[in-house]
Amino acid sequence: MQLFKLHTALHMAKDFAEFAKDFQLDDKDLVITNDFLYKPFMEKLNLPCHFVMQEKYGLGEPSDEMMNQILHDLSGKEFKRVIGIGGGTVIDISKLFVIKGLKSDVMDAFDHKIPIVKDKTLIILPTTCGTGSEVTNISIAEIKSRHTKMGLADDAISPDHAVFVPELLKGLPFKPYACSSIDALVHAVESYVSPKANVYTRTFSLRAIDTIIEVFQKIVEKGQEYRHERHGDMLVAANMAGIAFGNAGVGAVHALSYPLGGNYHVPHGESNYQLFTEVFKAYHAKDPNGCIREIEAYLAARLGCKVDEVYDSLDALLSKLIPLKKLREYGMKDEEVRGFAENVLVTQQRLLKNNYVPFTVDEIEAIYRKLY
Ligand SMILES: [Fe+2]
Repeated sequence: MQLFKLHTALHMAKDFAEFAKDFQLDDKDLVITNDFLYKPFMEKLNLPCHFVMQEKYGLGEPSDEMMNQILHDLSGKEFKRVIGIGGGTVIDISKLFVIKGLKSDVMDAFDHKIPIVKDKTLIILPTTCGTGSEVTNISIAEIKSRHTKMGLADDAISPDHAVFVPELLKGLPFKPYACSSIDALVHAVESYVSPKANVYTRTFSLRAIDTIIEVFQKIVEKGQEYRHERHGDMLVAANMAGIAFGNAGVGAVHALSYPLGGNYHVPHGESNYQLFTEVFKAYHAKDPNGCIREIEAYLAARLGCKVDEVYDSLDALLSKLIPLKKLREYGMKDEEVRGFAENVLVTQQRLLKNNYVPFTVDEIEAIYRKLY
């Protein structure tokens, strides 16, 4: 059994100009980003790269339509490197664009009609502190032509370099900042109790938890603006959590949050936040004596509470960043709850196999009902 793998080289640059100089950006570089990042950080450098502004091709999650339109506009151009600077959408698009022979239809890659071979270097600069996508080998897209979501997981689309540039987080509003950081905390905690976890992945989980909880506590104490002093630390913490989950996987929190994203368009980090502590309470109720004891004791020490108060204390801290809502406030209806539980059990086995303990459909339904 493989214990641990990291394909990506990790870098820190104090600002975007330093990154551009270190990596000697030139006219063979394709930069995929957003206008709200390009204007303040890149425009003034007059770089010779080819820039694509993702939002010009549609808002929200990456889709086959969006990517095919970009491919169309890039036809005839050749690049040596793809540089994705942005959040989850930009990163997922950038990952696909390094595939050799991808000409006009990304479905050729999702359907494996072409071999998944990389012929360009992939560099990622994450501008949220949550996805961990800068070190994972997965790209997920909405396939509008088939009314479904598809994922491509292949080491060929793993980034070659991840570069942390703290100034790029300056414009991120507080709510997406908090949601993405909570998602990183979920990555660290969920991957800790995964059956695939081991001493390597747990080392990364614990170190990520230290920073994330400490920064959250200081934000509560000093105010939201404090976050700007710690963007470098949080980028690294989120990346460590990403390394842990890239190797050990995440489980029921991510699986159960799926219907919230799919049906009510709740952002990924926010939907995980809604499920987080209730899933762990259900884990604890089924088997309080496994490795969950270690993570509960570790979290309690950081939160300064007794171990049996750990989830209440965690909820208290997180709800000072973003208030926890009832699922019905997102539009979930009483009669839908059972169907969602059944659907999660069928469609989310990729994640549920990483659970600390397995859940039955009744147990999943009970978690939704508690939050409903
Ligand atoms: Fe996540």
